[in-house]
Amino acid sequence: MRYLVTGAAGFIGSHLAETLVAGGHDVAGLDCLTDYYDPALKEENARGLVLERVDLAADPLDFSGFDGVFHLAGQPGVRSFGDVFPLYLRRNVLATQRVFEAAAAAGARTVFASSSSIYGEAERYPTPEDTVPAPLSPYGVTKLACEHLARAYAKGFGLDAVVLRYFTVYGPRQRPDMLFARVVNALASGGAFEIYGGGDQSRSFTYVGDTVDATIAAMDSAPTGAVYNVGGGEEATVLEAIALLERISGRTLDVRHTEAAAGDVSRTAADVTRIAAELGWAARTPLEAGLKAQWEWAAARVAAG
Ligand code: UGA
Repeated sequence: MRYLVTGAAGFIGSHLAETLVAGGHDVAGLDCLTDYYDPALKEENARGLVLERVDLAADPLDFSGFDGVFHLAGQPGVRSFGDVFPLYLRRNVLATQRVFEAAAAAGARTVFASSSSIYGEAERYPTPEDTVPAPLSPYGVTKLACEHLARAYAKGFGLDAVVLRYFTVYGPRQRPDMLFARVVNALASGGAFEIYGGGDQSRSFTYVGDTVDATIAAMDSAPTGAVYNVGGGEEATVLEAIALLERISGRTLDVRHTEAAAGDVSRTAADVTRIAAELGWAARTPLEAGLKAQWEWAAARVAAG
């Protein structure tokens, strides 16, 4: 098959593109290498991929000839209040509207990477997909707007779209602003680590390899219009996960506490009944094994200088 991956130099996008190439598919990667974090890391992620530098919010988009589009590009991060909001609007809402327009015109099935952050402090835990969305971060609001755009383009232009709500994905190449990336970096290189609030906030942490499997299964066999949670099997608090990483690394983290961050929710917990029933997907990687893989990757990079 011939696939397009947007955000192919990003954390999840680069793993996805590599897995598709290894599966014998023809893959074109799009990325505009924004400076949300060091673009050199993205170039490193994308080594070995065919990458075209495209601004989805402005450049002409022609997706004809592609069987499917994996739309993973976006402005990430739930701590998104303040002056940065125009970037979230442009890189999430506007870019996604243009991707859906181009995908509908090309008749290409599109899998859209949404987020657990659309739930906010959810009414129910574990949270099923039919829970009323109530995002608490501007980022989550833009991801929810994109989900509504998917429905609008499905109805108006026959877009064949599937929405995946990823729950705090981790593993090698994790974005450097995220919890585990910062923790392993502090453990490997030294330096203090700041917990936002008490550290008893919890997440359905999801290993990147499992996330890639769910994403490909969605492209292959999800019904049109499906919405799925993609969440790891084990929930853990920030403090529990840090303790696990200290055990894995055999080191002690210098922990400080700062104020809780606006936009952060106290808990995410994925109900994955639907994706298990319809796609036969379940997270396979225990948190300890996934953290070990992330620690070994980060420690090797630090050792290599
Ligand atoms: C993550 C991603 O960053 C979002 O892009 C994604 O959409 C979201 O998951 C999702 O599930 O949809 P988040 O859960 O905040 O968001 O992931 P982390 O940045 O890894 O943070 C996890 C927890 O660690 C949060 O409670 C946060 O407050 C805490 N944290 C993070 C700290 O205490 N200190 C830090 O330096 C970073």
